[in-house]
Amino acid sequence: MMKQILKKEPNGDSMNRVDGRLKVTGAAKYSAEYVIPNMVHAVLVSATITTGTISSIDTKKAERAPGVLAVVTYVNAPKIPGYHTGDDPAKKTTTGQPLRIFYDNKIFFNGHPIAMVIADTFERATYAASLVKAQYKEEPFTTNLDMNRTKGTTPGGGRYVDYVRGEADAYKNAPVKIEEEYTLATEVHNPMELHAIIALWDGEDRVTVYDKTQGVKSTQHSIADAFKLEEKNVQVNSHFVGGAFGSALRTWPHEIAAIMGAKKVNRPVKLMLTRNQMFTLVGYRPLTIQKMGLGATKDGKLVGITHESYSQTSVYEEFSEGSTNVSRFLYASPNANTRYKIIPLNVSTPAPMRGPGEATGALALECGLDELAYALNIDPIQLRLINYAETDPEKNLPFSSKYLKECYQIGADKIGWDQRNPKPGSMREGEWMVGYGIAGGVFGAYRGRAVAVAKMMADGSVNIKSATSDIGPGTATAMVMIASEYLGIPAEKITFDLGDSSFPTAPTQGGSATVSSVGSAVHDVCVALRQKVNQLAGRPAEDQSTLNYVDVLKQNNLPVLEITQESKGGDEGKKYSMYSFSAHFAVVHVHAVTGVVRVKKAVAVVDAGKIVNMKTAKSQMIGGVTGGIGMALTEEMVFDDRFGRYINNNLADYHVPVNADVPQIEAVFIDKPDPVINPVGTKGIGEISIIGFAPAVANAVYHATGKRIRQLPITVDKLI
Ligand code: MOS
Repeated sequence: MMKQILKKEPNGDSMNRVDGRLKVTGAAKYSAEYVIPNMVHAVLVSATITTGTISSIDTKKAERAPGVLAVVTYVNAPKIPGYHTGDDPAKKTTTGQPLRIFYDNKIFFNGHPIAMVIADTFERATYAASLVKAQYKEEPFTTNLDMNRTKGTTPGGGRYVDYVRGEADAYKNAPVKIEEEYTLATEVHNPMELHAIIALWDGEDRVTVYDKTQGVKSTQHSIADAFKLEEKNVQVNSHFVGGAFGSALRTWPHEIAAIMGAKKVNRPVKLMLTRNQMFTLVGYRPLTIQKMGLGATKDGKLVGITHESYSQTSVYEEFSEGSTNVSRFLYASPNANTRYKIIPLNVSTPAPMRGPGEATGALALECGLDELAYALNIDPIQLRLINYAETDPEKNLPFSSKYLKECYQIGADKIGWDQRNPKPGSMREGEWMVGYGIAGGVFGAYRGRAVAVAKMMADGSVNIKSATSDIGPGTATAMVMIASEYLGIPAEKITFDLGDSSFPTAPTQGGSATVSSVGSAVHDVCVALRQKVNQLAGRPAEDQSTLNYVDVLKQNNLPVLEITQESKGGDEGKKYSMYSFSAHFAVVHVHAVTGVVRVKKAVAVVDAGKIVNMKTAKSQMIGGVTGGIGMALTEEMVFDDRFGRYINNNLADYHVPVNADVPQIEAVFIDKPDPVINPVGTKGIGEISIIGFAPAVANAVYHATGKRIRQLPITVDKLI
């Protein structure tokens, strides 16, 4: 891969969002906001039992209600050709299968959709949905993870299977050891924008959707697969997405239902989940119990790390995440072993949520390490430095880049670590106990295959397209900045289009990999475009001196110059271990009488390779740290195991941090390009921004109070 460093534009490191004005003025159109002629509205009806079968379902009243066009249930639902029966042994997998909506009368979880009412207005559909009545045959169920730990299975394959380096459970024989258990509550994504889809059929074999999704190509693929259509006959539009955090990584049953409904009534159908349904129908971060064993010599050298994790999945589908992986390589211990079990419960299937696996795993490892630091009487940062992994102890490979030491140093300076009295419960400001905490994290740096097409017009303006998405990080802005740098023309002359499945392919926006994947394609297409223009001008392809594109196109009688470029990584992953790293710092105040915890100061220092847009990158960090405050102090889906349902599935009772809960957040980037992963040198920010922040808060709460709370969120009842 050719790397060309061009002179950067002034302020090239920070740019306002190219679509910022559209977003703040309401001109940006989100999926549910399209007005399609003849469009009608669908509302889902949810099961009120947790497990069993529908014995009868009465839709008559709903059908007779004003404005109703159809009521779809398993009894009359059009068959979805892509829903296989499950009886075919060739198609049977150990991982179960996604929920097949209106497929049969089985109920797998409380809230399982049992009917869809389609009416001429949303209000009429909502009213008619309240008239659908089902009779059930209930069956026993269980929704309690803790009580069912022994029923866990180990997911097959990859890094989910048990891992041993050196000797298993070696921590047990170490001179100093800790052995503790940490619980992270179920968390929900619940982005501001509700999940929504508009579906319209254009004939028997063509469908167009406006859909909230993180991947227009993956959605195109799954719709084509479900309805057995040609992919080119499925058009997916997702121009703006109002947050997702992982909830829109896959195609959910409500999307299939809307497309099914549009076919049934032969009109465009809009289906938007209610806020209540957002808590059960689009995944969540699964409740996870982790056991951590850490052993060290008296001078702090780790002897053994043992990390066990139990998390929930549904009875119909396996969901797994790498919650123990971080313990295999973040620290240089000669012995390390991990065990991971998932337990099927009568709940809906979880989904990846910001920092999936690592955010959960870092809680156990980084709180455990803090406990070990106190047991050893060694400063927590010092303990991390003593066990710093210069190379990846799991894969036995060098890191492509790692500036975690610098992260510790900068963070310690910025938070004022030297003012911290190491003794727990020793610092006070009036009625408030004061605590300092540190924790860190890692997240894999990935790169997928992406294609971009660039068009240069006669006036020198450039448009680039790729079928990526933007769930909020500012993708188009970053792409414009990359193009500006490698074409050597001002950002104002460049536009970038995304969110359309007819564009050249790009991966789903997930795993913090968009700038790495799509940014590389933009880099490559711009380098190719520049070389082409050089050739047209009779210059060497590599010439980097200033060039008047307009003149070159004019001299060659070219009204437009178009280039498409595919971009993907090679075998770097076999030679290097590639990760983003974080060191998070928090100062908390804990009220001595009421137990209220306030995060007073937050410093997040991240090595994520080169930062393309400092402004939006910092916004990512602010979002991630805010999510970390939620994870540490407020966010918890509470199950009532007697009824098998959530009792707080609304945003009044499920607490996300609000403005008053969030201090000034200082986000700092090392901003050194990774020399290996891709031509731009970026490693990914979205996930690492949250990974490690919650344990930093938990560790700070311990330092403030001397109370170790191992069940997150740390609510006042646990502190007083
Ligand atoms: Mo992310 S959990 O890959 O959207």
